[in-house]
Amino acid sequence: MPGAASVGAQRAAAEQRAPAESVQYDEGYGPEIGVGPYPEPWPQDDRYDPELLAHGDRRNVVDPYRYWTREAIVADLDTRRHDFHVAVENWGHDFNIGSVVRTANAFLAKEVHIVGRRRWNRRGAMVTDRYQHLRHHPDTADLTAWAAAEELPIIGIDNLPGAVPLETTALPRRCVLLFGQEGPGLTEEARRHASLVCSIAQFGSTRSINAGAAAAIAMHSWIVRHARIEAPGAP
Ligand SMILES: C[S@@+](CC[C@H](N)C(=O)[O-])C[C@H]1O[C@@H](n2cnc3c(N)ncnc32)[C@H](O)[C@@H]1O
Repeated sequence: MPGAASVGAQRAAAEQRAPAESVQYDEGYGPEIGVGPYPEPWPQDDRYDPELLAHGDRRNVVDPYRYWTREAIVADLDTRRHDFHVAVENWGHDFNIGSVVRTANAFLAKEVHIVGRRRWNRRGAMVTDRYQHLRHHPDTADLTAWAAAEELPIIGIDNLPGAVPLETTALPRRCVLLFGQEGPGLTEEARRHASLVCSIAQFGSTRSINAGAAAAIAMHSWIVRHARIEAPGAP
């Protein structure tokens, strides 16, 4: 906790600096999100960021984390992350990966694994990747070796021949949900190493939904089965 004497100096210094992560997904559209500068007296707690207190917090974070530093938010999330991991094959810069990362953040996945190319299109992540643990694997063998060492089964998600319906399958609590990319879907190697492949039922004419949508459905299926759901408004 900072001493009371340092608060004025802290505030003056913070006001000189621009906020680190001010505006995100609504830049230029509609009303500003978030909250303005924090009225004095400031809260005395190391989790609060003096720059955000001084300038306001326009980040895409839930209200209980308003004015918190990114490090404090990540540390808090780390105390209650869920037991599922998410992995995405990235052989061709799939634009869906950002969306997968954002959903993994929303559903509090333990970690997101990028398999293949290290670089991925972050635009769809809307800065949520800063609050998510990300791990890169140069190839599928590296992912499967890591998962084996962690004793985590890999559950492939794809509508391949032999896949079982996600809707009637109980996903294990500890697992890696592995997604393929637009076009080819899961690689042959990924299919071989998956202990199970689950498909999402479709009813229209398209062969598949996009990987971002499929990832959201599969993660939510895990949530429905394993997460503790509190009633809205519950204390
Ligand atoms: C656009 S799909 C392509 C592959 C698909 N197998 C095909 O026949 O066209 C890309 C990725 O999205 C996910 N996906 C899309 N539709 C799915 C479905 N109905 N069931 C399960 N996964 C799906 C999978 O992870 C897949 O690898």
